[in-house]
Amino acid sequence: MCGIIGYCGQKDAVPVVLEALKCLEYRGYDSAGVASLCDGQLLISKDAGKVEEVIEKHKLATLPGHVAIGHTRWATHGGVTQSNAHPHPDCTGRLAVVHNGIIENNQELRRELTEAGHRFASETDTEVIAHLLEDELKSGRSLEQAMLSIAPKLEGSYAFVAVSLDDPDKIVGTRKSNPLIVGLKDRDYYISSDALAFAQYTDEVMALEDNEVVVLTEGAIEFLDPEGNKVAKQSRTLDQSWAVSDKGAYQHFMLKEIMEQAQVLERIVDQDRQQFTQIALDILRARQVIITACGTSRYAALVGRYLFSRVGKKFCDVVMASEFGYFADSVDKNTVVIAVSQSGETADVVEGVKAARAVGAEVISIVNRPNSILTDLSHQVIYLNCGSEIAVAATKSFLSQLAIFYLLAFAMVNSFDEAAASLAGLGGQISKTLDWNKSELIKLSDRLKDKDDAYYIARGINFAIASEAALKLKEISYVHAEGMPAGELKHGTLALIEQGTPVVVICPDDYTFAETLSNAIETKSRGAYIVGVSDRESDVYDSWIRIPEVDELLYPMVAVVPLQLLAYYIAVNRGCDPDKPRNLAKSVTVK
Ligand code: M6R
Repeated sequence: MCGIIGYCGQKDAVPVVLEALKCLEYRGYDSAGVASLCDGQLLISKDAGKVEEVIEKHKLATLPGHVAIGHTRWATHGGVTQSNAHPHPDCTGRLAVVHNGIIENNQELRRELTEAGHRFASETDTEVIAHLLEDELKSGRSLEQAMLSIAPKLEGSYAFVAVSLDDPDKIVGTRKSNPLIVGLKDRDYYISSDALAFAQYTDEVMALEDNEVVVLTEGAIEFLDPEGNKVAKQSRTLDQSWAVSDKGAYQHFMLKEIMEQAQVLERIVDQDRQQFTQIALDILRARQVIITACGTSRYAALVGRYLFSRVGKKFCDVVMASEFGYFADSVDKNTVVIAVSQSGETADVVEGVKAARAVGAEVISIVNRPNSILTDLSHQVIYLNCGSEIAVAATKSFLSQLAIFYLLAFAMVNSFDEAAASLAGLGGQISKTLDWNKSELIKLSDRLKDKDDAYYIARGINFAIASEAALKLKEISYVHAEGMPAGELKHGTLALIEQGTPVVVICPDDYTFAETLSNAIETKSRGAYIVGVSDRESDVYDSWIRIPEVDELLYPMVAVVPLQLLAYYIAVNRGCDPDKPRNLAKSVTVK
C-alpha cells in the first residue's frame, strides 16, 4: 500500500506532487507528506490525516521547490502519527525517503544503525533506509551509488525514492516486487507507484525492473542495473482511457462505479475469442485447477468455480491467496493456477503466483490494471477492461470478474459467442434493477442503518454473492455482517438471530429458490427481518429487492448490484466515507 510520487522538471514541484497524492490516496490515507529541495534547503512537511487535511493544515501548496517527493501512507510499522508519516529524514536532515512495502529485517538493521550512533525519529521500517543512505553519502558516494549499495541489505519488498542536499537536483528510486513507474514529457520527469498520479501531464512512461535504480534530473533520465551499468530503455504510451479518475456528478467514486456497471458489461465482451479458447483448453486438460485471490476477487472466483463445474464439468478449487503457500506441496507443472486480482499487485496473490511458477505451473491471471506485477508474472493475462476503480470497495471489477468467468466457462464448451451475446444483453437488466430499486434501497438503508449485525444467505452459485454483499456492508459501514450458504445457518449462526436481525436472502427463481426460502422462514420464525432479493415475490419478505428474471447462471450478476448500492446507502446514512473506509487501502501490497 502507500503511494509514492516524485517530480523534477520545469514546473513548481510541490503542486505537481500534491495533485498526484490526491490520485494516489486509494493506496492509503492515514497520513501524508512532502519533501522539496529549494535553495540549498530540504523542506519536509508531513502529518497524520487524509491528503486534503494535511495539505490544508500545513499549507503545503506554498512550499517552494523544483524537485519534490511525496507520500500517502497506509500504516504498517508504527501508529498513525506525524513522526511516522513519510518522508523520513536521516540524522542530518539532509536527505529524505518515501517508501512503499515492508523491510522485513528492519529490526536487525535498526539495532545495528542505533549501535553505530544513528538516532531514529519514528517507529517505521522505512527509516532504516534513510540512515543506511546517510552512511553511504558520508563516504562520498552519489545518491544512486548509495542506493545500489544498500539495496542488497534490505529484505522484503519495497519501492522507494530519495532526495538529498548532498547530491541535489535529482531524485533516485528503486524497487523490488512493488510498483514504481517513470513518466516523462520534454524536460519533466515523474516517478510514482501508479502512472495515474501523473497521467494528466504525460502518457509516455518507462518501466523500472526489479532491483534497477533510476536517476531523474531536469532534462535527463538514467537507468542502472544492480551492478551500476547503464540500461537502455524504450518508453511506451500509457493507455489514457485507463487514467480517468473523475467522480463526475457523483458524490462518491463508489456510487459512480456502481452506476457504470451496465456500460462495463457491454465493454467486457470485447475479448480475444482465440485466447479464451486456448485458456479453456488448458483448464480442461490440466490435472488440477486452482483459483487464487483475496477479498472480493475471491468471491468472484467462488462463482467461477460453480460456472466451471456446471458448464465445463471441470472441478476446481479456490484457495485464499494468503493460504496458497500452505498448499504448495500439491502444485506442479500439471496445475493451472488462475490468479484473480483487480489491482494485479496484491502481495498474497503475487507471492502465490511466484511459488506456482517456481514449480512449473501454468499461471493465468485475470486483472484490471494493465502492466501490473501480476501481469508480468503470468503466462496468459485476461483483462477486465472496466477502467480505473478508485473506491476501496470493489464493485465494477467484481461484476467484470464474474463476466470473465462466465465467458471462460462457456469457452470450455465451445460457446464463447453465445455467452458474449448473453452478457451484452445483461447491461439493460442491470440498469433496470437499479431503476426499480433505488428509492426502496434508500428507505431500507434508513431502516437498517442502526443495526449492529446483518446476515446474508444464498445457495449454489448465489452463495458467493451473500459473502460479497456482506463484505461490502462491513468494509464501508462498519456493521458486522456475515454471508454464508443458507443451509449452514442452522449449524450455528442461527443462534445469533434475534427480533429484528436483518437477514438478506438471495433467492432468485432458480434451482435454489425453494430451499433458500425455507431457510429464510426458519430465521423469520426467530424474529429476523427478511430482505428478499429475487425476481419472485413472497410473503416471507419484509422488504423486497426486485431483480429481473434472467438465465440462472446470470443471477449473481444482477443480484449483487442492488446489494452494493444498499451497502453504499447504509454507509452514507451512518456518516461513513464509502470511498475511504477506515484502516483499509485499495491495493494491499503487504502480506
Ligand atoms: O486488487 P485485488 O482484487 O487483488 O484486491 C483484493 C482485495 O483486497 C479486495 O477485493 C478487497 O477485498 C476489496 N476492498 C473489497 O471491496
